Amino acid sequence: MATVFYVGIDLGTSRTSVATSTGRRLSTLTCVGYPKDIISRKRLNQPYLLGEDALENRLALNMIRPLAEGVVCEDEKALEATGLILRHILRESLPEKTEEDQIYAAIGVPAQASINSKRAIIDITEDFVDKILIVSEPFAVAYSIDCFDETLIVDIGGGTTDLCRMHGSIPEEEDQLTLKVAGNFLDEQLCRAILEKYPHVQLSPQIVRRIKEKYGYVSDVSEPVIVTLREQGIPSEYDLTDILRESCLKLTNPICSAIQKLVGTFDPDFQEKLRNHIIIAGGGSRLKGIDRAVEKSLKPYGGGNAATVQDAEFCGAIGALKMSMEMPEEYWEKI
Ligand SMILES: Nc1ncnc2c1ncn2[C@@H]1O[C@H](COP(=O)(O)OP(=O)(O)OP(=O)(O)O)[C@@H](O)[C@H]1O
Ligand SMILES: [Mg+2]
Repeated sequence: MATVFYVGIDLGTSRTSVATSTGRRLSTLTCVGYPKDIISRKRLNQPYLLGEDALENRLALNMIRPLAEGVVCEDEKALEATGLILRHILRESLPEKTEEDQIYAAIGVPAQASINSKRAIIDITEDFVDKILIVSEPFAVAYSIDCFDETLIVDIGGGTTDLCRMHGSIPEEEDQLTLKVAGNFLDEQLCRAILEKYPHVQLSPQIVRRIKEKYGYVSDVSEPVIVTLREQGIPSEYDLTDILRESCLKLTNPICSAIQKLVGTFDPDFQEKLRNHIIIAGGGSRLKGIDRAVEKSLKPYGGGNAATVQDAEFCGAIGALKMSMEMPEEYWEKI
């Protein structure tokens, strides 16, 4: 007998995560690498590598990050790569699926993803997904923690930060904001700031990202951050304490302004409730001190209360899964 498998997918710029109705959770980097030349093709013996595999072999590959800007890019290669990633992660997470079985997938995309990218996702998944529901990422996060009343969700990802005001019904256009300021932006700022102070150190995107994830902070004080970097291969220690805070503030300040805007334009009777229920999700929620920085920015409004989610990696996928299992027939896109 044919079975229906429900899956929730968080299609992110940097990671794609899946949660299934069979209880599996999987996550992979959102990237595909194609062999650069005849030698790399011979050595890898595959037409492409996905996720962590691709990253590890990146010197031999042309890397594609298909969701670079937080929306599915229009060009052919990026669409193909997105399809490969989705197909792969579904196959891995549902090994028991047979030919007749069906997949109903709810896919979280950035809040303001255009109609175009919705269409694009539907097109690239029609071969291996039977029914699809495209949901906004922050709404999926809200769904995962059952927050439907006055709540402000702030999802700080790689390519975009998505904000969404919940008020007991499906959020509308004016409840949502997408900022291009997110993890990748912080990486760029940090890289630039380090090179400004230490022009000769050797940096790569991976090094900068590791420093950010390990030491990034926006609290007022921090232990000194001393990191080993190299100049022409020779290691020495560099003090990055101030650089890190200043760079991280370039991420959190615009986010705090966006929060202030969504609070300030809300029905005044409910603003207090909203201020006191701010949920920060996404990889960026791991930045040390971010909850307090958000609270501090709401002082002029009468104060606020912000918390970070427990499971930054999977809460979008879990929310999408929950939605896929509860959504009535008429909400699904027929493929
Ligand atoms: N401890 C940390 N401190 C700061 N940033 C972090 C930390 N851990 C992860 N990140 C950053 O979070 C970002 C990835 O977050 P997430 O996985 O939520 O993004 P995504 O869902 O793939 O992207 P998007 O939501 O934009 O599509 C990366 O920029 C990563 O460097
Ligand atoms: Mg995300």
